[in-house]
Amino acid sequence: MAVNRAWAAEGLRSFSNRPRPVPTRFWVISLASIFILALLFIGHTSDSLPSIPGLNKEPEKAQPPPPTPESNDPPKGPAKNYDPEEFDLDENGLKIWAPPHMDALVHGVHASDGVKRKPTYPLDPFPQTPMTSPVQDNRPRPWLGAVICSAWDIKRRMLIRYTWMKMFKDVPMDQRFVISNPGPDWRAVIQQENATFGDMIVLDHLHEDDFTANTVKTVEFYRWLSDKSPVKYEFVSKMDTDLWVNARAYWDRQLLPRLDVVKSADGNTVTGYKANVNHTTIGQFYYDNYHRTAFPHGAIYTVTWDIVNLLPKLQDKHHIIAGEDVTMAWLLIKGHQKVTMAILTQEEKFEFDHKDTRPGERTPWARKGTDVTSSWHAMYGSEILAIHQLKKDDDWLMVAECFDERGIKEMPPYPEKEPEDKGEKPGYPRPFWTQIPNDFWETDVDGTLLCNGIWKLEPGVGRDMKKKPKGE
Ligand SMILES: *[C@@H]1O[C@H](CO)[C@@H](O)[C@H](O)[C@H]1NC(C)=O
Ligand SMILES: *[C@@H]1O[C@H](CO)[C@@H](O)[C@H](O)[C@H]1NC(C)=O
Repeated sequence: MAVNRAWAAEGLRSFSNRPRPVPTRFWVISLASIFILALLFIGHTSDSLPSIPGLNKEPEKAQPPPPTPESNDPPKGPAKNYDPEEFDLDENGLKIWAPPHMDALVHGVHASDGVKRKPTYPLDPFPQTPMTSPVQDNRPRPWLGAVICSAWDIKRRMLIRYTWMKMFKDVPMDQRFVISNPGPDWRAVIQQENATFGDMIVLDHLHEDDFTANTVKTVEFYRWLSDKSPVKYEFVSKMDTDLWVNARAYWDRQLLPRLDVVKSADGNTVTGYKANVNHTTIGQFYYDNYHRTAFPHGAIYTVTWDIVNLLPKLQDKHHIIAGEDVTMAWLLIKGHQKVTMAILTQEEKFEFDHKDTRPGERTPWARKGTDVTSSWHAMYGSEILAIHQLKKDDDWLMVAECFDERGIKEMPPYPEKEPEDKGEKPGYPRPFWTQIPNDFWETDVDGTLLCNGIWKLEPGVGRDMKKKPKGE
């Protein structure tokens, strides 16, 4: 297994080269490698090893910041520009929206082509394999944190389990990984993995492939929750595998204020939580110029349980095939639904930019003069809730060291004399929501701002995504 060798070698290399030893990191890597080997061994004791998709691939390179929108190809097909004259108005004078007429693009593949792909293995029902020794814990958990990942991405799952999930285990969140049907070759391995950790949700009516993962997987996950989940959650967060989440702060600042706490008669024990909002999503507002649609950025967004129930119903009616986050917006547009959009700022959720780290230091902290209003920067301050684009294990572990179970550690002071900066400079691109066209914005009957006909900003929040102080 080339990958395990490379991985262990990386751990050893970093162990010997660096001046200070990093035992945690070394042990996480070693333990995870051993675990993967053990799983593969258990899964395939008799047969010779089949070819294993995914694990033999080169590790994914960190992606460069997205191109500036002007350099995007112009939309193909009959997509029309929104012209205010073209809108019919409802009884309140608000525009009646429809998704643009176009063949959606999903990571470079046209949806009309993507749906024609042929399955490479049969979709047999996936047998449930409960955890062998489950931990008894009856605390109410109103929050589901679900990492959407590919079945064969075991290595990343181990890294996530042993870092933020373990660190923030006191937060009342159920932690799950959502995979599609991995096919017969992988069945035994995944069964063994769930028997050990008990944290897998298998959507066995879906193929494990990129196109499915990037289009219908989230809505089908909501369908699974709606139809089969043993627990009804108040909030469900969907997360990517390259996202670090400060679950402690996310719970304290974003979720707890939106929950009413239910206590036992003597007032001493929390017996439950009930959301005090409905039809709400929490996320980073994003605009996709190509599909001319506004939506919460897909790396992490959180929805209330009524949205979990609603989206699969809308999908049964409208059958949208588009990027996972565009799909959500188009379904809501077609269903004429208005959803409250609670905004995460660029300081709270951002794309990790290596070029913005401190020159000469091996830390994820930002250099002097960083710009936290940009969507791409390094770590700064104490507001951080989620960090995206941590595709490299090195970056992931570096970030992990800046947190403990109470959340983010204090930012270390800048060095007295900064070393010379020989590397590439950060570009600090503007957030995508700044490109939302003027005619996307309307004022709803209750005075809140409405975008794209579906996203209602919270009362007092302006087009700059900031909450206006009272009286302004
Ligand atoms: C995984 O384990 C959990 C906990 O025992 C169980 O509830 C769930 O059904 C299992 N899932 C699968 C796909 O086996
Ligand atoms: C949200 O909607 C559900 C039913 O869809 C209802 O039971 C609940 O009370 C509502 N919550 C709020 C805060 O309105």
